[in-house]
Amino acid sequence: MSLRATSDRWWKGAIMYCLDVETFLDWDGDGVGDLAGLTERIDYLAGLGVSVLWLMPFHPSPDLDDGYDISDFYAVDPRLGTLGEFVEVIRAAESRGMRVIIDLVVNHTSIEHPWFQASRSSRDSPYRDWYVWVDEPPAEPMEEVFPGEQGGTWTWDATAGQWYMHRFYDFQADLNVANPAVRQEIARIMGFWLQLGVSGFRVDAVPFLLEHQGIPNLGEEAGRDPHRYLKELRAFLQRRRGDAILLGEVNLPPADQRVFFGDEDGDELHLVFQFSIMQRAYLALARGDGRVLEAAFAELPEVPFDCQWATFLRNHDELTLDQLSDKERAEVFAAFGPDEDMQVYGRGLRRRLPPMLDGDQARLRLAYSLLFSLPGTPVLFYGEEIGMGEELSAHGRSAVRTPMQWSDEPGAGFSTAPEGAFPGPLVQGTFGPAAVNVAAQRDDPDSLLNWFERLIRRRRETHELALGTYRAVVTRPKSAFAHRCDWEGSTVIAVHNLGAARVDLRLPVDDLPDAVALDDLLRGGRIDVVRKRAAVDLEPYGYRWFRVVREGQRTTP
Ligand code: NOJ
Repeated sequence: MSLRATSDRWWKGAIMYCLDVETFLDWDGDGVGDLAGLTERIDYLAGLGVSVLWLMPFHPSPDLDDGYDISDFYAVDPRLGTLGEFVEVIRAAESRGMRVIIDLVVNHTSIEHPWFQASRSSRDSPYRDWYVWVDEPPAEPMEEVFPGEQGGTWTWDATAGQWYMHRFYDFQADLNVANPAVRQEIARIMGFWLQLGVSGFRVDAVPFLLEHQGIPNLGEEAGRDPHRYLKELRAFLQRRRGDAILLGEVNLPPADQRVFFGDEDGDELHLVFQFSIMQRAYLALARGDGRVLEAAFAELPEVPFDCQWATFLRNHDELTLDQLSDKERAEVFAAFGPDEDMQVYGRGLRRRLPPMLDGDQARLRLAYSLLFSLPGTPVLFYGEEIGMGEELSAHGRSAVRTPMQWSDEPGAGFSTAPEGAFPGPLVQGTFGPAAVNVAAQRDDPDSLLNWFERLIRRRRETHELALGTYRAVVTRPKSAFAHRCDWEGSTVIAVHNLGAARVDLRLPVDDLPDAVALDDLLRGGRIDVVRKRAAVDLEPYGYRWFRVVREGQRTTP
């Protein structure tokens, strides 16, 4: 293994798992998940093979946007626990070889935050310039992130006698990052949590955080590239903790995302969520057509070696399809979310994957095999490992944020309190806790949970996928999609059948003249390479990962 290998880029070979403390496990019986509950289940996560926990916001908050409206960046929401219990989570994770990253939501604060209260109170307040105030909103309208729900991006505040800017809801006022005092405070927040042991941050809404649009007095920032600020944040992070990471939410087309990794060597975000591949994966599944993914691969820019995509099929938000054309989006809606109630903001779905696929285990496993072999670090959203569904009676995006289903007991093993005290409803029906839960799947060797455990073990052993360079391999028929990953003289090829018919294909390895066989990494066994081709068959919705065995090389156990 070369010196460029894994250890100092731990996040490249990581398996990330996103959860909201509030909905994971309630340990004190009050109906709300808590840090003590999370500590209890650290071994469950370690056993699954997860190596990084991403905790959604757990700070004090009026909770109008599921905690993304923070009113104190230096504390824990008392419903969820204490700072002491937070440190226990970090310690418990660390002792199992796991790391923890947390959300850094500093594009905005809750309007209940004392900074905003001081800011609105007087034009002379030292906090006045911490937010973006104007006498008249600009004539040019700004994009609304939650169209139909947020009522514009400027709101009149009678106390302040001015308008304030908010990229998101009107209760989330944008901080003014052109103000050096705000920047210093953001660094202080990062420093605080790094000191408590986090290994980095999932940075919320990065393009909006950086933007100068709407800020009336730019001061020294006038004319400067906003990315300089991201470089400064990164440099600060690394000074405080050399191995910490920034994982950014940048929902833009791939070419526009590239700039958020920074210069040639990567001096801004370490990881960027790959929204485009995610959306195309749904289109490919809907059409049963691998060429969609071939085209998506072709659009990926090269990223610096010290950077990587973060891949996902589901996150806590709407499953956005905003990068698809209207026609493509309509196809995905028709296949996976035909009812209006399943859709949101005119651009996304508020469903989880298993119900979209009618619980078809073969298709589900195909989709996750794809996720774990695509270029990037895979990120799971809690409950995906057992195939949880959504609850459409919950409002908007909350449909996919229901309590974790641990067992078929009342309260799903999530809590002993009456359901009315829970942060949201339990899933009803086919995908509810009676049928889908951890306890039952733990005992079943063929369960999705145990399948995930095996998949994750294999993925963690397959350094080519973590560190290598990716490219699509052109194959036919069109329902098949193959891609390969090369790392330090070793090659892994993954083949997926998106269609409902069996596929037989001849996989080319022309450029590897000494290839003698392919080791099957998921099922075991091997296929000989004959005249630079390997004959591979795939059952309907089949998936296979192969390592190319070259003359004199050992086989993979
Ligand atoms: C992006 C987060 O993912 C979303 O859940 C939140 O509503 C907005 N940012 C505002 O913080």
